[in-house]
Amino acid sequence: MQVPKWFKVALAAAGFLALGVPAAAQGVTVTISCGSVGKGYNFCKEGAEAWAKRTGNKVRVLASPKSTTDRLALYQQQLAAGSSEVDVYMIDVIWPGILGEFFVDLNQYIDPKVKSEFFPALIKANTVDGRLVGLPWFTDAGILYYRTDLLKKYGFAGPPKTWDELKAMAAKIQAGERKSNPKFWGFVWQGAPYEGLTCDALEWIYSYGGGTIVDAQGNITVNNPKAAAALKMAKSWVNTISPPGVLAYMEEDARGVWQAGNAAFMRNWPYAYALGNSPESPIKGKFDVTVLPKASTPDGRHAATLGGWQLAVSRFSKHKKEAVSLVLYLTGFNEQKRRAIYGTYLPTRPALYQDPDVLAAAPFMGRLYDVFVNAVPRPSAQTKKKYNQVSSAFWTAVHSVLEGKATAEMALSQLAMRLERIKGPGW
Ligand code: GLC
Repeated sequence: MQVPKWFKVALAAAGFLALGVPAAAQGVTVTISCGSVGKGYNFCKEGAEAWAKRTGNKVRVLASPKSTTDRLALYQQQLAAGSSEVDVYMIDVIWPGILGEFFVDLNQYIDPKVKSEFFPALIKANTVDGRLVGLPWFTDAGILYYRTDLLKKYGFAGPPKTWDELKAMAAKIQAGERKSNPKFWGFVWQGAPYEGLTCDALEWIYSYGGGTIVDAQGNITVNNPKAAAALKMAKSWVNTISPPGVLAYMEEDARGVWQAGNAAFMRNWPYAYALGNSPESPIKGKFDVTVLPKASTPDGRHAATLGGWQLAVSRFSKHKKEAVSLVLYLTGFNEQKRRAIYGTYLPTRPALYQDPDVLAAAPFMGRLYDVFVNAVPRPSAQTKKKYNQVSSAFWTAVHSVLEGKATAEMALSQLAMRLERIKGPGW
């Protein structure tokens, strides 16, 4: 009888090779490239080492640049050169279209039942021309962090629902706290010119009813008055409720200010929740999270940009079978549960959002479930290989508005022309 490939992989993951030979007898070294934001590297290493121990293989865990934009450039270089150095890549949810051709089709290796245990939308995001190029490891969505103690101190009953409320609350808390702490700011976020700014700015624009830069049909929609209003709002924060330095902030810069106790509000991803509540954190137990505010206009709606990371196996890997086994282990129920509890990484398996241990460690995962499953995707599916060019044109235009180098209207109309040129006859 022919044993399906995925079955052999599953057996290998459980600690045995298909022929009943102990895995240790044939151990290989699998190299995985992981993220380095927050404790991302440590979590990856612990998980990968646990797999190695179980299967008798070895792992080499490489760190990669903090900025997802820099990581993309590095991975493109390695993969275009056909390098077999890295077996497993941790890839951003916006990359399957850009890098998919360099990864194996996981459909050939895994049990369809395993595939059905993940959020279907995430499986779809990882499927390019019918090929499953990555397995979702954790998902992400932009959320608002707020200091519960300071809201109470300044007489606010709850977090802001609109951006106007956020601005007023941030200004009041900042004015009060500055009396004893000159380093204090109202609101920190990601304003550096990189992919993270695309995420933040998409939230502002979408929350004003201004669309998703490029719509689902591939039309360039970003040059509209609602988008302009959203950018003007963000510009008004710089050097009032947000530090001028925010224009160079990435995730960890914002978290640094926030976790030191120097900000009332922060926009960030869920990983900052576990870190903010770590034993040595000055703000432990003094904050909570909620959905980001919306515009006060009738079109206003709450929005969270969809982020997240997948594990993909390089086409050039010399250990594909073991690499797939590692991917299955890391994206498996138990490892995702560990990561959700200790690192507040959002699981990609719906079942974990009903797990009592997960909900006890991160109650927000239950409360904000709808926000997470309805998160707004960046236009990577429709712009395919050109997504990074689109995003880079977008964050550059947004940054020029935030810096005061261009008006929102001017920047958006020039951006639309640039995007038309990038699009050419079609995406
Ligand atoms: C987070 C998201 C990722 C996004 C990045 C931007 O890591 O998960 O999707 O591209 O932030 O900085």
